[in-house]
Amino acid sequence: MKIEELPTPCVLVDLDVLERNIQKMAEFTKSRNCGLRPHAKSHKSPFIAKKQMNAGAVGVCCQTLIEAEAMIMNGIENVLLTHNLASPGMIDRFLSLVRNGDAKILVDGQENAEMLAKAASHRGLTVGVLVEVNVGNNKAGQEAGEPAAKFASWVSREGGLKFKGLQCYEGNLQLTIPNFETRKEQAVPPLQKITSTINALKRQGLDPEIVTAGGTGTYNITAGYPGVTDIQPGSYIMMDRRYSEIESAGSDFEQAMTVLSTVVSTPTDTRAVIDLGWKAVGIEYEALGWGGMPKPLIHGVTYHTGGDEHGVLNCERPSSRPEVGDKVKFIPAHCDTTLNLHGVFYGVRGENVEVVCPVARR
Ligand SMILES: Cc1ncc(COP(=O)(O)O)c(C=O)c1O
Repeated sequence: MKIEELPTPCVLVDLDVLERNIQKMAEFTKSRNCGLRPHAKSHKSPFIAKKQMNAGAVGVCCQTLIEAEAMIMNGIENVLLTHNLASPGMIDRFLSLVRNGDAKILVDGQENAEMLAKAASHRGLTVGVLVEVNVGNNKAGQEAGEPAAKFASWVSREGGLKFKGLQCYEGNLQLTIPNFETRKEQAVPPLQKITSTINALKRQGLDPEIVTAGGTGTYNITAGYPGVTDIQPGSYIMMDRRYSEIESAGSDFEQAMTVLSTVVSTPTDTRAVIDLGWKAVGIEYEALGWGGMPKPLIHGVTYHTGGDEHGVLNCERPSSRPEVGDKVKFIPAHCDTTLNLHGVFYGVRGENVEVVCPVARR
């Protein structure tokens, strides 16, 4: 099948580019003597996870239960769920993954840890857990240093749980600081928090097997930092408009994901209407002031959202206006949320569609 035959709007993933991105990150982490635990939230697909594992990944991270289920049920057996669970039904579903593979999860407080411990013990299981540490993201996580280490010590004595290490993702640094040197400077305090937590663990007599951190924006800052055993970047495989503006990440990895649309109407000489609205492309970065509109890959047009199912292309000149039936490709502002809007993506090489790949959506 050819790309032009696909129903639109749809997500295309250039498999040659994707494979180069996978290889590049794998070789880089190896050169820093650091493991790679890529985040599957960017692709939600065992098909891509297998490529990452074949390139040497130690496992994958997932952000939702359904992503973790898609991975483990399709043979990706080493999964870290980088989220807390706090409802019995979801914990139960997670425990069925523990029976079927190496599924680990985060805990960051006595409440969620006790719920997990009780459910696991009740079923005669032991769950590998990582203590989540707040290294600056100010979302979930124990405070770094003594508080995190004391909590880890409690976890290590709790039946049903096995303390495996620390989750230290510095999410606040990934997309907020385009300049590389500034980002590197601002990474110093979070990295020091990792060191202080490892040292505090040692004082508690604990030696973490896993200390994981790092994303696409900090991959070459965090990989190789003493004590960090692996990094967990996600977007590097797909890339997007925002990451293309993040110095270093933007030049080190190529754009694999695009969104394909069709021109459905040309009401004026300089306006074309396409079938790409916000139900098919993530535009939420607009609210953060980062530029949330997708970037058209044709000259002389700008995209404006036209609502749920429509996009409007304002054209500089009548000659730059595409015609009804023409296909227009875009680079989405955010790869993760764009993919999450689609049931499948199309893996392509050149103009040929090679694979139709289901997406494990929420
Ligand atoms: C916990 C965690 N780890 C890793 C990542 C990967 O980040 P990126 O896609 O910026 O590489 C994310 C992204 O949101 C995340 O939430």
